[in-house]
Amino acid sequence: MPPNPADLRHEYEGPALLERDAAPDPFDQFAAWFGEAVDAGLYEPTAMTLATADAAGRPSARIVLLKDYDRSGFVFYTNYESRKGREMAENPRAALLFFWDRLHRQVRIEGTVERIGEAEADAYFASRPYGARIGAWASAQSREIADREELEARVRALREEYPESVPRPPYWGGYRVVPVWFEFWQGRSDRLHDRLAYEKRGEGWRRYRLAP
Ligand SMILES: Cc1cc2nc3c(=O)[nH]c(=O)nc-3n(C[C@H](O)[C@H](O)[C@H](O)COP(=O)(O)O)c2cc1C
Repeated sequence: MPPNPADLRHEYEGPALLERDAAPDPFDQFAAWFGEAVDAGLYEPTAMTLATADAAGRPSARIVLLKDYDRSGFVFYTNYESRKGREMAENPRAALLFFWDRLHRQVRIEGTVERIGEAEADAYFASRPYGARIGAWASAQSREIADREELEARVRALREEYPESVPRPPYWGGYRVVPVWFEFWQGRSDRLHDRLAYEKRGEGWRRYRLAP
């Protein structure tokens, strides 16, 4: 029998996240923490949960990989016709969540979603390994398929069709989450965690502390 989850307890003992140390701008704060997550040797520091909802407000969540970020937003790549793609077409709002467990840190980001430009998507697609480029064609992501063989047969046919150069599928590309809200969570002892939130105000950001 696996252990009872309630018996698996950890203490959180991170360094403090105090107003005097945190960046006034949330993008700078994200860059600092992202750099520390990479330096800590986490296996997948770019993995983030993406939460979307359909027009009726029914939520769904899955992991995607962060591929770019700057002050204009946070970029990931996917199939526009997948469940997430359909939901973002109906309801262009999303939340992102990073959990960097070894650092006892969580970052929450909320905002609006837009598709990135064709040229940016082409450039990133061209940088992917051959197998991943073929995979983008082979998979009608989130559609039901008969079995594994259906997928592998498609891959074999596509490898013959595109032995070298693989164009970007028209239904595959990137999205940018343009933040209006961030929260940086640092685990501290006795569950007295630090939480600093940033809310977009005109061209700037209002920063405030939340109770843990
Ligand atoms: C570590 C990890 C990284 C992933 N990265 C991506 C990604 O960058 N893009 C993507 O479309 N799916 C990615 N996936 C798969 C998604 O979690 C999900 O299964 C898929 O996108 C279909 O989601 P949907 O049906 O909600 O559209 C990743 C999964 C894991 C566990």
